[in-house]
Amino acid sequence: MLGLRHYRGTAVDLFQGDITSFVCDAMVNAANTSLRGGGGVDGAIHRAGGPSILEECERIGGCETGQAVATTAGRLPAKKVIHTVGPIWRGGHEREAERLQSCYQSSLHLAAASNLLHVAIPSISTGIYGYPVAEAAKVAMQTIRSFCDDRPQALRRITMVLFDSETYKAYQKALFACFPEAEGDET
Ligand code: APR
Repeated sequence: MLGLRHYRGTAVDLFQGDITSFVCDAMVNAANTSLRGGGGVDGAIHRAGGPSILEECERIGGCETGQAVATTAGRLPAKKVIHTVGPIWRGGHEREAERLQSCYQSSLHLAAASNLLHVAIPSISTGIYGYPVAEAAKVAMQTIRSFCDDRPQALRRITMVLFDSETYKAYQKALFACFPEAEGDET
């Protein structure tokens, strides 16, 4: 099946569209360290979710790059928003890959700890923060695979929600490279 793999009890799939209308348990936001909203998916999530999200973000006060915090999802079709802060791309020699990996690890562990079994994640850092999409997609899929190896069945489904076809294709290529053999499509 295009864009879907079952791996160690977790479904890993891709969806092209707007994450703010994607029904899930945890919706991951590509935030900044201030947690005060911004453009891109951050702006979209705050606009669609409403002011209760920012109120909680302000109480939390901030988030380090590579870390993740959870807030209410407000009016969004999710139980929680997990805000994570990706690295700004500065050429690849400032531990950007390590920090991006940490975003996915932190977000997935936080979702599992909160029993949020279906996690939707945008393409972190590949917009305003300028991370090359193909590289970011590889980091994302490798980190998702390692998470599933370490914690089989901890999450039921992880969906990468990609906003445009170029990004979708990059993640599809990375998905197939990381999960070469579909474990068969459980009906
Ligand atoms: N749904 C899904 N994906 C989206 C949406 C949306 N509604 N809007 C944008 N995207 C995609 C972008 O096309 C890109 O592929 O999310 C990806 C990440 O882009 P950004 O939102 O720009 O996030 P990032 O590159 O991590 O930069 C974060 O931007 O918005 C500010 O406050 C934020 O300072 C932070 C910085």
